Amino acid sequence: MPDLSVEVAGVRFKNPLMVAAGTPTIDSRAMIRCMEYGAAAVVSKTITFAEMHRLQPRPRFYVMHPESVDSGFYSLYSVELMSELSPEEAIEDLGIAVDYARRYGAVVVASIAGRSIDEWVKLSSMVREAGVSMVELNLSCPHVEAGEGVLMGKTAGADPSIVERIVAAVKRVVDIPVAVKLTPHGADPLAIALAADRAGVDLVVATARFQGLVIDVDSMKPVVWGGLGGYGGPWMVPISCSWVYKIVKSGVRACVVGSGGVSGYEDVLRFLMLGCRSVQICTAIIMHGFQFITRILSELDRWLASRGFSSVGDVIGVALPNVLDFEKLDRVSVYKSDIDYGRCVRCMRCLRSCFYEAIRVADGRPVVDHRVCVGCGLCSSICLYNAITLRRIG
Ligand SMILES: Cc1cc2nc3c(=O)[nH]c(=O)nc-3n(C[C@H](O)[C@H](O)[C@H](O)COP(=O)(O)O)c2cc1C
Ligand code: SF4
Ligand code: SF4
Repeated sequence: MPDLSVEVAGVRFKNPLMVAAGTPTIDSRAMIRCMEYGAAAVVSKTITFAEMHRLQPRPRFYVMHPESVDSGFYSLYSVELMSELSPEEAIEDLGIAVDYARRYGAVVVASIAGRSIDEWVKLSSMVREAGVSMVELNLSCPHVEAGEGVLMGKTAGADPSIVERIVAAVKRVVDIPVAVKLTPHGADPLAIALAADRAGVDLVVATARFQGLVIDVDSMKPVVWGGLGGYGGPWMVPISCSWVYKIVKSGVRACVVGSGGVSGYEDVLRFLMLGCRSVQICTAIIMHGFQFITRILSELDRWLASRGFSSVGDVIGVALPNVLDFEKLDRVSVYKSDIDYGRCVRCMRCLRSCFYEAIRVADGRPVVDHRVCVGCGLCSSICLYNAITLRRIG
């Protein structure tokens, strides 16, 4: 059985899976459930003094394409704000999760959000006292529309100099690893990661969700709660991976944690292969339940064993050297597409998608004119029957 344990900013995790702050970690009961199902670490719902962000709109969830949840082609639009518990209540509740985690070899991370440097410092000291192993700075909340001077959410989180100040202030008062969760919304996560790194952050979580707005055309209003919301889903993985890649490649000292759209063990592997030591997951657990944690872990375990890896650590960063820089992309080789008529069902998708008009119909079947084909590869990628291959001819 492969060893799934990893070291994350000096803390031993029994596996790379960390449940991100959200509904599955809403309180100690839920956090304990995540740990029972095998999560190595849980990040609490964000603790804040801001009362407006503790009062939840109801109802607050809208699953787009619920019929496709099992196949992973959905989006979650929602407006769940931060923890409903006051900081004092949250600290008491965190203690219960910390006790459980200590007994079962798991790790509790407290997520916090201040509005000023004073609040960030106060909250981090409070959660440190509760015995958590790490603190995560929520500088990514998509719902926060912070005004001038309010150092909160995605607005503050998009400004590298603010992030640097907050991280530096928190680092001065706590002796546990500090994580910052990066917003991808209207921000440059690489610049933010570099700023946080300069201030001595221990982990960067790349990345959180976007803000969105879904209009129902019949009522001509935003769906369900009538306003904007957070928007995410499995489609985010490649976006987050591109940020993770740039951040890892920049040589930050901080440990990089993958996040955003993880909906299966392959996504976990994608982030690990790009150099992450841990991966956060939230929405997929909301969609599939706590048991999804166990499923991902057993599938990860099975994949590693089937590929002969004795430790998950062996896949960390393995894909990094395989990512080509833009200027190194192959612009020289010549390719032509070939159709395997044993597989082709004459659906004519390829014909419709060849914008060079290199495919025509002859005797009721698609035929590629190699004089016109530029080898772009679209037909091969869109064919559902794997009937088109690209052949390198020069
Ligand atoms: C319903 C919901 C509630 C969330 N609540 C929080 C929160 O309280 N604090 C926080 O930092 N992130 C929160 N998040 C963001 C997640 O922690 C995570 O960063 C984001 O959803 C991307 O990961 P995922 O695609 O695995 O969900 C929430 C996300 C969702 C969907
Ligand atoms: S898309 Fe594939 S199956 Fe459909 S016509 Fe083209 S080659 Fe045949
Ligand atoms: S590779 Fe591109 S140009 Fe060639 S047939 Fe396919 S879609 Fe057309």
